[in-house]
Amino acid sequence: MRFLLFSFIALLLAPAAFAGGAVEVEKHDWDFQGLPKEWDKDQLYRGYAVATQVCMTCHGMKYINHRQLMDVGFTEAEVKAMAAELNMSINDKLVSGLEPEDAKELYGKEVPDLSLINKARAGLADYTYAVLVGYSEDPDEIHHALPDGVPEGAYYNRAFPGHAIAMPSPLTGPDLVEYHDETEASIEQMAKDVTYFLQWTAEPELLERKKLGVYVLLYLLIFTVLAYLTKRAIWRDVH
Ligand code: HEC
Repeated sequence: MRFLLFSFIALLLAPAAFAGGAVEVEKHDWDFQGLPKEWDKDQLYRGYAVATQVCMTCHGMKYINHRQLMDVGFTEAEVKAMAAELNMSINDKLVSGLEPEDAKELYGKEVPDLSLINKARAGLADYTYAVLVGYSEDPDEIHHALPDGVPEGAYYNRAFPGHAIAMPSPLTGPDLVEYHDETEASIEQMAKDVTYFLQWTAEPELLERKKLGVYVLLYLLIFTVLAYLTKRAIWRDVH
């Protein structure tokens, strides 16, 4: 029994232990954490703009197509127009125009697919955001992290494990994209919006699942109360 208990505790602690190799990243309150709610269509649309106009130059999001955006409030006409802008049909996956061989030649690295990135790294969504805003040219900071200097073809990044990343800072300045709403496209805002979008690409069913979780809990609660009342009713006259 005690062995089982220890195994259980070890299992619970394991992810924390594995996270050890990565850089600690700052935690943020994301809208998709906590109580279930709907995906914010405006923020998804802003994140989509950054993802398709900036990130897709190099990265694909191969598990996602425009049709899926209809599950989160976009109309068929809207997604058709969005796909057409990219010369795609609504069933085409969001793949990058950059061929893997060219990417290798240009960056000496593979460019990872971004569909699942928010689930794939320790730090999750906070990691993606931290990488995007994690560039710095402060010589002291760089020297402290990389005493031998930044390797050829790499850039200093606070959040990337090892601090030398092959990706040039993608969010080089504000207003890289024009948002459909009044939101100002600052670097932080673009980073936040694209991270939000990448949470959706990683877990399109996340908020649905959370809602289901709440229903299940409510059901169990009601069931428990009913079971208790039934027990009382049955045992009332037995002494
Ligand atoms: C100019 C090409 C280019 C653009 C544009 C670009 N990236 Fe990258 N990205 C790369 C390359 C190359 C890597 C691999 C870096 C490495 O392994 O050192 C990378 C890595 C990353 C990583 C780290 C992945 C990991 O393995 O931990 C994240 C997160 C990321 N990119 C997100 C984005 C987002 C979000 C955008 C759009 C805002 C974007 N990138 C735009 C080329 C690009």
